[in-house]
Amino acid sequence: MTLRRSILVGGLTLAALVTAQSASVAAASSEGHHDRGHHHRGHHGSSPAVPADSLRALAAKVGLRTGVAVNTDLLGADRTYTRIVNQQFSTVTAENVMKWESVEPTRGTYTWAAADKLVASARQNGQLVRGHTLVWHSQLPAWLTLGVDNGSISKAELRRLLKKHIQDQVTHFRSKIWQWDVVNEAMDEDGTLRNSIWLKNLGPGYIADAFRWAHEADPNAQLFYNDYNIEFTGPKSNAVYAMVKRLKASGVPIHGVGFQTHLDTQYGFPDLQANLQRFADLRLNVAETEVDIRTFVKEKEPATDPKQYTNIPVSGLAQSAQEAYWSQSLQACLAVSRCISYTVWGVADNSSWIPGVFPGEGAALLYDDKLKAKPQYRVLHQDLKLAAGAPYRRGAGRA
Ligand code: XIL
Repeated sequence: MTLRRSILVGGLTLAALVTAQSASVAAASSEGHHDRGHHHRGHHGSSPAVPADSLRALAAKVGLRTGVAVNTDLLGADRTYTRIVNQQFSTVTAENVMKWESVEPTRGTYTWAAADKLVASARQNGQLVRGHTLVWHSQLPAWLTLGVDNGSISKAELRRLLKKHIQDQVTHFRSKIWQWDVVNEAMDEDGTLRNSIWLKNLGPGYIADAFRWAHEADPNAQLFYNDYNIEFTGPKSNAVYAMVKRLKASGVPIHGVGFQTHLDTQYGFPDLQANLQRFADLRLNVAETEVDIRTFVKEKEPATDPKQYTNIPVSGLAQSAQEAYWSQSLQACLAVSRCISYTVWGVADNSSWIPGVFPGEGAALLYDDKLKAKPQYRVLHQDLKLAAGAPYRRGAGRA
């Protein structure tokens, strides 16, 4: 996967946006105060275990939810990890265990256990769940991709399989999922639809179909289109904008757009607030769904072949650029009232996907390899503190 690997936008954007401070509304203290109709979705108000100065509690004061992608092997097994997930975040996303290859590794046999465990934990901890993800070109089960490749699964059968996958999964979790990422990463950088197994075999109509099928199976879930690199205005973001506008205009049940927000200090900070806002102006909810901010990191010593890396940024400048990006990514969401959740893609640097996919880069998350909060955490904490008293966002319900 290549996320803006090639373009080098010079200069680090250090100017921070100023969060609008408003003396209005004494913010409602309990999370989800305005989540009308969603109380059955595992929300039980602030759990007593949530410290008042956590990201979760501070964000709740302005009606924003903080979220985290959870590694279900660590949840419940590592005490510090588990405490961070439950205290700092009011929504959870399965980092992997709701993907098709995880839930149906063998055709016709569902393996829900890990995902069920996450959903149960969320309920116990008063957290909502982002379902990730129903239709994607990646992390598909081998029986499916092989079957399509060798012709034993026809186009018509593939369409039936996709419908069944979506409806079985949404039905399994019915009323327990706040937002589903129904379609993930369907657009290419040049603004044409990705030439995926879905486009090739089902044609462009698969996207609208997927939303309709998901909606039939759980009419109360918020249904999202989710993608990366739409934070920057450009052909991809413009094409996604045109697509979701068209879907909404033709009555397709789509309620939000997720901006993955996998940022890298070498590419400059995107015009994220403007992009969130223009999608929100279509009367769609928006969310930052997979935030991480990577930079170049130091090699391990002694230098090895192949190279091995630490999660220590190469310079103080790289570190301060990361801090600025964290602040600006959060403030962009805070500035858009339909931006209803801000989710980080993992807890600690050493369990992040970044080093494996972008060798030489890392340090992308809020906690270090020992699960100690980094300065990045304190930046978010401070921004949320300063935001307290800003108008309460009411977008937690469905768009
Ligand atoms: C990543 C996970 O973090 C990794 O553990 C896994 O090996 C690959 O997928 N965009 C997405 C996420 O929508 O599902 C991806 O998650 C990261 C990029």
